Amino acid sequence: MHHFKYHNNVLHVEDVDIINIAKDIGTPFYCYSTATLERHYSVLMKAFSNQNSLICYAVKANSNQAVLATIARLGAGMDVVSVGELRRARAVGVPADKIIFAGVGKTRDEMTYALREHILGFNVESTEELEALSSVAVELGEIARVAIRVNPDVDARTHAKISTGKSNDKFGVPFSSALSIYNEAGRLPGIIVNGIHMHIGSQITSLAPFREAFNLMGQLTKNLRHAGHKIQHLDIGGGLGVPYLKNGDLPPSPEDYAAIVRQTIGDLGVKVILEPGRMIAANAGVLVTRVIFVKRTETKLFTVVDAAMNDLIRPTLYDADHEIWPVSESLSTNVNVLQDVVGPICETGDYLAQNRYLPVFRSGDLMAVLTAGAYGAVMASTYNSRLMIPEILVKENMFAVVRPRPTYDHLIGLDCLPSWLS
Ligand code: LLP
Repeated sequence: MHHFKYHNNVLHVEDVDIINIAKDIGTPFYCYSTATLERHYSVLMKAFSNQNSLICYAVKANSNQAVLATIARLGAGMDVVSVGELRRARAVGVPADKIIFAGVGKTRDEMTYALREHILGFNVESTEELEALSSVAVELGEIARVAIRVNPDVDARTHAKISTGKSNDKFGVPFSSALSIYNEAGRLPGIIVNGIHMHIGSQITSLAPFREAFNLMGQLTKNLRHAGHKIQHLDIGGGLGVPYLKNGDLPPSPEDYAAIVRQTIGDLGVKVILEPGRMIAANAGVLVTRVIFVKRTETKLFTVVDAAMNDLIRPTLYDADHEIWPVSESLSTNVNVLQDVVGPICETGDYLAQNRYLPVFRSGDLMAVLTAGAYGAVMASTYNSRLMIPEILVKENMFAVVRPRPTYDHLIGLDCLPSWLS
């Protein structure tokens, strides 16, 4: 469910006409809906309302501070994976005691920063990291609260690049050695191990892998408690998928997901921490782009637009099919024609859609690439010396630029010449 709809034949974000935003700020741009962000958070919140839980939004999905502030005001905590993300979360006022720091390669500097902030906890992924965190904490005279990420060796049945819970993935410690690692961790100074963390992947569209992994974590909680470990929280990660193409896989509902959590680990008396990213932000954002040329070759129709793989890398990196809607509804009554929607970048992999039936666009037409609110802007680059594109946040009939388009002086001014060339 989202708030991108046609009124008077023009696609609107809530009550704002997309053509007006494009006139004002130019194209391409990302545009987010406050109402959709809020709705997704509250639907999840409601599904878990009868369980002791904390939602820590995965900042990596969309880290624009306006997005973070919108979600934080609803009471969310945050899941961060770098000091940069931690600083962003703190900058918008997320209390440190609602912030979880995850990631397979935290540096000692990052640990120091997070310990000084007194965050809720660290999700630790290896014995090497446990030892480093213990020594940093002792040096600082701080105590680190820790959950160990356990890799359950469960197939999340998602794209290989975003599957994280199989034994040959780089994440977590093996399920089979978890008990001995908890025992070792229990002897280290400067850390208190009070939780278990798991995250088996992203864009998961079936409940079965979640059920399997949660059952294993439930079993582990009992074993660890039996061995004397005080397990108080279970961080079950993120991963709940979203619908991309209209006829694509339908993800489970938040209610069904919450029911699985209740059935598998509900009787353990643990606090459940959730780390949703995509299901909060994805459908809350579109990428708006303008057609530059419509090019026909002997074999194909290419609609060349002003956004490219550097702005939205998901189609080429993960074979993701983002739905595309014309901003003018009248175009959707055209007969759909097989085509590729491509950007100006000098690579064949530069496409937003391949072999897709879409209306025939003309130069100057606007289109919206849907479900682009998560892992869109955050994964953008300046490849081909293209400027990062602006981000807009809409609330009812208002819109604000929440990240302006930089200037070429800004982009080019980031480099500097060494003395022998200047
Ligand atoms: N927790 C951990 C430890 C994670 O690694 C992730 C995502 C999340 C939570 C949030 O997962 P979500 O609820 O968003 O599925 N760039 C890729 C997605 C990478 C996900 C990485 N980890 C994409 O565009 O599909």
